[in-house]
Amino acid sequence: MRRLVSWATTSFLALCHFGYAPAASTPGVGDDDSKIAPKVFIVSMFAPEANVWYQNLPQSGLGDLLAENISTAGLSMLFPHIHCVADHSICQVTTGESEINAAATVMAVALSDKFDLRETYFLIGGIAGVNPKHSTLGGVSLARFTIQVALQYELDVRDMPENFTTGYFAYGTRAPNKYPTTLYGTEVFEVNEALRDKAYVFASKAKLSDNTNAAAYRARYKAAGAVYAAATEPPSVVKCDSATSDVYFSGDLLSEAFENVTTVWTNGTGKYCMTAQEDNATLEVLVRVAIEGLVNFARVIIMRTGSDFDRPPPGVSSYSHLLTNEQNAFGIAVENIYNAGIEIVKGILSDWNCTFKQGVKASNFVGDVFGSLGGEPDFGPGSITGGKPLQPNGASELLARRGSPLSRTSMRRRGHAYVPPRD
Ligand SMILES: *[C@@H]1O[C@H](CO)[C@@H](O)[C@H](O)[C@H]1NC(C)=O
Ligand SMILES: *[C@@H]1O[C@H](CO)[C@@H](O)[C@H](O)[C@H]1NC(C)=O
Ligand SMILES: *[C@@H]1O[C@H](CO)[C@@H](O)[C@H](O)[C@H]1NC(C)=O
Ligand SMILES: *[C@@H]1O[C@H](CO)[C@@H](O)[C@H](O)[C@H]1NC(C)=O
Ligand SMILES: *[C@@H]1O[C@H](CO)[C@@H](O)[C@H](O)[C@H]1NC(C)=O
Ligand SMILES: *[C@@H]1O[C@H](CO)[C@@H](O)[C@H](O)[C@H]1NC(C)=O
Repeated sequence: MRRLVSWATTSFLALCHFGYAPAASTPGVGDDDSKIAPKVFIVSMFAPEANVWYQNLPQSGLGDLLAENISTAGLSMLFPHIHCVADHSICQVTTGESEINAAATVMAVALSDKFDLRETYFLIGGIAGVNPKHSTLGGVSLARFTIQVALQYELDVRDMPENFTTGYFAYGTRAPNKYPTTLYGTEVFEVNEALRDKAYVFASKAKLSDNTNAAAYRARYKAAGAVYAAATEPPSVVKCDSATSDVYFSGDLLSEAFENVTTVWTNGTGKYCMTAQEDNATLEVLVRVAIEGLVNFARVIIMRTGSDFDRPPPGVSSYSHLLTNEQNAFGIAVENIYNAGIEIVKGILSDWNCTFKQGVKASNFVGDVFGSLGGEPDFGPGSITGGKPLQPNGASELLARRGSPLSRTSMRRRGHAYVPPRD
């Protein structure tokens, strides 16, 4: 049943000078007082990323996240509560680190009957390894793409053919730097670019933390010249993309290999600048529950802050860079999650009625490599749903058939040997 737009809402909307009308009174969001309908849900991956919000949010006047602790089945045993401010406008969860924890926790939140997340903005905010070509220690990135870069075959370099540039090559291919022909569906996600651009404007108001020791390590990249110019600058907010890998890789060769994977898998659009262990897992869950109408995938913001460079400055070995040299940026990276993130939260809350409640219309494709949410991906082999969104409750047979072990035809048609998924 459609709800009538109340007089109060109508008269209020008349004060908003926007052409973008609300989606014919979204039925029910916020009506059911038994459900918590946060405007912003902050997703942290481990304790320091969460603590910075608990410690600082009260001073912003937006509330205390420890005002309400909520348990729900399936959260991490290390982080067994969702935390919300008293008026429920902001909630936060800590997933636990790496892909498995991120996916499991976000699924628990999304399927919890304690929440109504249909209008909620998800702000994924974590520290990351940073590519010196695009950002720096303490730098803040806002992504359009996330790429699960290590979802590939791997040969140890001592075993690989002599003409390979890396031991990683995509499923269903015979050499590095090719588009995968076997897709698991989590390879690449694309989020709402118009929302990302608004978040960028908000985050750019922040005064970012820095320290002299991090500045000293940054300065060592000057010797490489223009290619690492971004590394030598003080922290700023940049627009570039986030790689996901459970493997904490480091050094020139792996970093360059995964940078190439990002370029190839996003068909040249993605710019790899941060590497972390969770984003794709979180996004896979949000795509799945968006199919069921439980969340809106156009309301996801991926923010990462650089805590360590993914590769060494000239003259430093990869081993020393990773393990013995102190880059001194963990603290500023954590602080900058809050410094930039609070501006995004304030921006969303203060313009909720006129902009964010209705949503920021995406002008780009949003979703996964299958095209599960409808539309035509601007990367990958194209929608395998014919551009249509999948129906809830498993009602779209198309992908279910593709997933069946009895159907290998789609693989054969593409002229590739069937590669059994490992499980
Ligand atoms: C919520 O949990 C935190 C510890 O994680 C605790 O400090 C706080 O007092 C709790 N809040 C309530 C309302 O119980
Ligand atoms: C590597 O060399 C083999 C022949 O030894 C050739 O078939 C293959 O195409 C080469 N691969 C690349 C990536 O150059
Ligand atoms: C990870 O997500 C990014 C976009 O968010 C997407 O481009 C990439 O393909 C995903 N990778 C995997 C392996 O899912
Ligand atoms: C990355 O791609 C560039 C350009 O195609 C290539 O020259 C380089 O060898 C690749 N690097 C790795 C590690 O595969
Ligand atoms: C937004 O709208 C709600 C109800 O429609 C109203 O209570 C609230 O004061 C409005 N907020 C602002 C900032 O105008
Ligand atoms: C992306 O690149 C692959 C491999 O080159 C190609 O098959 C595919 O059609 C391209 N997709 C788009 C949307 O351009």
